[in-house]
Amino acid sequence: MRVAAVSDIHIRSDNKDDELIRTLRDRVEELEPDVFVIAGDISHYLETIDDTLSKLHIPDIPNMYVAGNHDVWFEKEKGWSSLEKYARLIGETCKKNGFIHLPDSPTVVNNIAFVGSIGWSDYSFRREELRIPEEAYETKHYKGAVWNDYFYIDWTFTDKEATDLFNKKLAYDLATLPENVEHVVYASHHLPFRELTIYKYRLPWDFYSAYMGAVSTGKILMEYKRVKLTISGHSHIRNLVHIEGITAMTVSLGYGRPDDGNYEKLVHDAVALVEIKQGNVDIIEFVKGDICAGLPYQF
Ligand SMILES: [Fe+2]
Ligand SMILES: [Fe+2]
Repeated sequence: MRVAAVSDIHIRSDNKDDELIRTLRDRVEELEPDVFVIAGDISHYLETIDDTLSKLHIPDIPNMYVAGNHDVWFEKEKGWSSLEKYARLIGETCKKNGFIHLPDSPTVVNNIAFVGSIGWSDYSFRREELRIPEEAYETKHYKGAVWNDYFYIDWTFTDKEATDLFNKKLAYDLATLPENVEHVVYASHHLPFRELTIYKYRLPWDFYSAYMGAVSTGKILMEYKRVKLTISGHSHIRNLVHIEGITAMTVSLGYGRPDDGNYEKLVHDAVALVEIKQGNVDIIEFVKGDICAGLPYQF
């Protein structure tokens, strides 16, 4: 089972990233995967998610998506809340374009189950030694730095409630998998393991790192012995770690765009390819670190 994966492509509106999307699609096709997974953060705009998924869809294989935090930023002018986008609209958009939104539909392919969630953060990735008060994490403000979800996520859950809700759904999805499932791949936007997080020992970076994921999510995955691989996004610095028999990776592309419009290298670095064979996970294509380093950022 060959899985191609990428995340955090952060597509600009008005077709500015069409060439990037085309190059990405060609690269995924060239890798000949059995499954294609995108781990969130295409756009704040559902319209752009719709257009991008339609262009990225790979025929004849399962195409899978999990929403990221940017994908569920509310759209006031359209009347769409974060919860409505996560619980309904993104799933409908995926379906329309031949993608499975994994949080809605765990999917079994050849005895390997793919389970997914946006995941969330409960600040358990924070660095305690910074002694930043809990209230700063809750309000998403610390010494002039603001975590952007403060402005754009409008559900009424606290972060801890959201984490708990998504964890419960994940535990349910794992518990109700068919008996014949031998191995599980978990695709999420937020990180399930603290070990995937890159700390820089400076602020505000390490304040923001608290929003990368939740330790409790990883614990659920470890309890369920069949999980072999996790694929996540959100952190734009890619990482690959092994935790008690689970291979965990982040596969973000990020905001960098080459000046010359040649996307070959960026896309080559961005798409990871993993093979699962009799429960063993082989990394075939993977580039670690910030693949946008040195490139101009385009928002
Ligand atoms: Fe992102
Ligand atoms: Fe994100």
